[in-house]
Amino acid sequence: MNTTDYLIVKPSIIGEDGARMYYTRSAATYDWRTSYETAHHREAIQRIGIREGDHVLEVACGTGRATVELAQQVGQMGKLDALDLTQAMMARAQEKIRGLGLQQRVEFRTGNANHLPYEDGAFDVLYNAYMFDLIPVEQFTTILTEFKRVLKPGGRLMLVNMSKDRGGKTLYEALYRRGLAGACRPVALSGVLNTVGFESITRQYRRNVAGIIPLPFGTEIVSGRKAITA
Ligand SMILES: C[S@@+](CC[C@H](N)C(=O)[O-])C[C@H]1O[C@@H](n2cnc3c(N)ncnc32)[C@H](O)[C@@H]1O
Repeated sequence: MNTTDYLIVKPSIIGEDGARMYYTRSAATYDWRTSYETAHHREAIQRIGIREGDHVLEVACGTGRATVELAQQVGQMGKLDALDLTQAMMARAQEKIRGLGLQQRVEFRTGNANHLPYEDGAFDVLYNAYMFDLIPVEQFTTILTEFKRVLKPGGRLMLVNMSKDRGGKTLYEALYRRGLAGACRPVALSGVLNTVGFESITRQYRRNVAGIIPLPFGTEIVSGRKAITA
């Protein structure tokens, strides 16, 4: 899919305050409304191959659906930093982590993906799911450059997003533009990863299925690696 295919649909949530308000309102129902995404998180985390002792950053951790598995995979010697814009979403992630007694391994922070409050080259892995599909295309490069900055040389990036498997406007996008669909629209990130200088880029496309009902959009699982030499 080329860039113009996803530039045609602008996000419906406007700005940082808009996103915070929307997710503060939807935190309580978020997990059951998007339960079909769980399988995609599982596949993405398995693909990225986290090793015990790794230092992992999850940007936009939300209610912690991936946070729990990431925290388990870093092991006792590893560490997970988790960041989100919306305190109400993150509070649910914190509750899940506390419930499993994993709080020693995870440090939560509120913040914006545009300006990550972390040192250069701090992380082995950066995981980010279902965030770019609600962000304006104009911010993609800035955010991915920020992701690259905080990764170690050779560090791995995993992105999961609502996407589509063909060019042109889909029926879902037509509804979305009229405010008749959810908060997210399909995006395609592999090309942008390439522009920002990530290497070894891969993309898998998966259909979204709620129970036995196929949904009119899917998910892309995109990975890349920061070059070992600058
Ligand atoms: C669709 S939810 C996904 C949550 C989680 N990643 C998941 O897959 O379950 C989007 C999350 O992104 C967060 N978010 C939106 N814009 C953000 C930004 N610029 N920086 C950090 N988090 C952001 C929202 O607060 C929300 O928790």
